[in-house]
Amino acid sequence: MGFVLFFSLQTWILLITFICIFVMYGHWTFGIFEKMGIPGPKPVMYWGTIARHNRVHYLDDYECAQKYGRIWGVYEFRKPMLAVMDPDMLKTILVKECFTYFTNRRNFRLNGDLYDAVSLAEDDQWRRIRNILSPSFTSGHLKEMFSIMKHHSHKLTDSLQSKAHNDEVIIVKDFFGSYSIDVMASCIFSVDFDSIKNPSNPFITHANQMFKFSILLYIFQGTIYLVTKRFDPFFLSQQPVKMTKKRSIRVKTSLHIESLWSHLCTSDVSCPLLLFLTGLTEHEIISQVTMFVFAGYETSAIALVFLAYSLARNPEIMKRLQSEIDSTFPNKGPVEYEALMQMEYLDSVVSECLRLYPSIPRLERVAKETVKISEITIPKGMLVMVPVYALHRDPELWPEPEEFKPDRFSKENKQNINPYTYLPFGAGPRSCMGTRFALMMVKLAMVEVLQNFSFSVCKETEIPLEMDVAGFVSPVRPIKLKLKMRSISSANVDPCN
Ligand code: HEM
Repeated sequence: MGFVLFFSLQTWILLITFICIFVMYGHWTFGIFEKMGIPGPKPVMYWGTIARHNRVHYLDDYECAQKYGRIWGVYEFRKPMLAVMDPDMLKTILVKECFTYFTNRRNFRLNGDLYDAVSLAEDDQWRRIRNILSPSFTSGHLKEMFSIMKHHSHKLTDSLQSKAHNDEVIIVKDFFGSYSIDVMASCIFSVDFDSIKNPSNPFITHANQMFKFSILLYIFQGTIYLVTKRFDPFFLSQQPVKMTKKRSIRVKTSLHIESLWSHLCTSDVSCPLLLFLTGLTEHEIISQVTMFVFAGYETSAIALVFLAYSLARNPEIMKRLQSEIDSTFPNKGPVEYEALMQMEYLDSVVSECLRLYPSIPRLERVAKETVKISEITIPKGMLVMVPVYALHRDPELWPEPEEFKPDRFSKENKQNINPYTYLPFGAGPRSCMGTRFALMMVKLAMVEVLQNFSFSVCKETEIPLEMDVAGFVSPVRPIKLKLKMRSISSANVDPCN
C-alpha cells in the first residue's frame, strides 16, 4: 500500500474526483422523497432501500405501511418508487387518470419477443390490443369455456381419489398447478396436456421454473409483466420453428413445445378462449396467447393452493362451504355454471382468500407526465407502486387482518367495502383481463374437490408459512395437506342441524 503515497498530484486529484462522483452518483436521486415531504426508509448508496432486512418485498411493504402510513417512498437501487395505499389516490391513479397519465407499467425493455403482449404493450398499441381481446371475456363466451374446464376438474378429482384413499400427504400445488396449466393450455392452445397424469411434461416444468426467480431478477423484471424474458430461450426460440414448419403439424403422443407452436400456427386450429384476434399481426397473436397462459397459470394455481390451505386450517368454514355446495348441487350432482357463479358463501371464501394471499402482491404504473394528486406532485417518469398485500392487511380497513373471515365479504358487508381497498385483480382499464375466467376456474375446481373430499392439516403442514422472495405470493416450501374422502351421506348432512 506504500505506493499510494507516491501518487502524483494529478493522480490524487483524479482519484478524489472519481470517488466524489462515485459517491454523488450513488446518492443522486435519494433526496427526491425528502423534497416531496414523503417518509420512507433510509436508502443505502446505490442499493437504495432494497437491501433492507426483509428480503420478501411484500412483507417489507407491510412493515413500511405500519411505520409510514399509506404513502411512502422507497428506492430500487437508484430508482425512486412511490408506494401508494390511499384509496382516494388509488382511484385517481388507476381509474380516472389511467388514460392520461398512468397508462403503462414500467418497462425495462427486457421482454424479448413478447414486447407486444397486452400486459406489456404501451399506450395506443395496448389500447388497440386490449380492445380486440376484451370481447373474448364476455359471460356468454366464458360459459362456453366451462365445459372445457369441467373436463379438467373431473380429472383433478379423479387424481385425488387414491391419495385420499391411501391417507397420503399431498403437495397441493402438484394437483392444482396441473389443473391450472391444463385449463389454460386447453382454452388457449386447444391442446390437452393432461399434466395431472404427465407431471414431467416439458411445458409445466419450464412454466414452474419461470416463476422461480430471485428478488434481484424480480426487481429488474417486475412481476408477470416482465418475467417473459425468462422463458424466451425455451419458448420463443421456437419462433423459427414456427416460421419454417408452419402448417406441418406434428402432434406427438407426448406433446413437445415445438409441435405446440406448429399446432397453433395451423389455420384450422382454434384458440377457444381468444376468439377475436382479427386486427392483430401474427406476432401479436403469438405474444397474446403465450402471455395469457402464463398470466393465468401461476396466479390461479396459487389462489387454489392458498384456498385449500385456508380451508384446512379453518374446518368450520370448510364445513359451511360444503354445506352450501351440497345444497346447491345435491347428491354430488354435476356443477352448473349459473348456480356456481351465484353461490354467495363460496364467493366470500374465495374473496377472503385473495385478500390474505393476493397472487400478485404489487401493482405498478409509471407517470407519463408530472401530475398533482391529493397535494402530492408526482414527477414525470416516477414509478407508482400499489402494495396490494400490505393494503389487504391494513388493520384500519380490515379489522383483525390476519384472520381468515369470509363473512367480511357477505352480501351485507360487501357493500361497505371501498373497492380501492381490495385489489387482487387490480383496478381500472388496465386491470386483470382474466378476472372472471380465473374466478370460474378456481370456484369450479374447489367445488368439485369439496364435493368429494375435505382438507385437513397434518404434521407436515407448515404453520405459519415462510414466504418466498419470488415475485408472486408463495411459500418457500410447498404446502402439504391431507385429504379425507366424503361419503354421499356426509355430503348431504347440514352441519347446522
Ligand atoms: C386468480 C387468478 C389471477 C389473479 C389474482 C390475477 C391478477 C392480476 C393482476 C393483479 C393484474 C394487474 C392488474 C393491474 O395492474 O391493475 C393482472 C393483469 C392481467 N391478467 Fe390476471 N390474474 C389472474 C388470472 C388471470 C387469467 C386466468 C388470465 C387470462 C385468462 C389473466 C390475464 C391477465 C392479463 C392479460 C393482464 C394484463 C392486463 C393489461 O395489462 O391490460 N389473469 N392480473
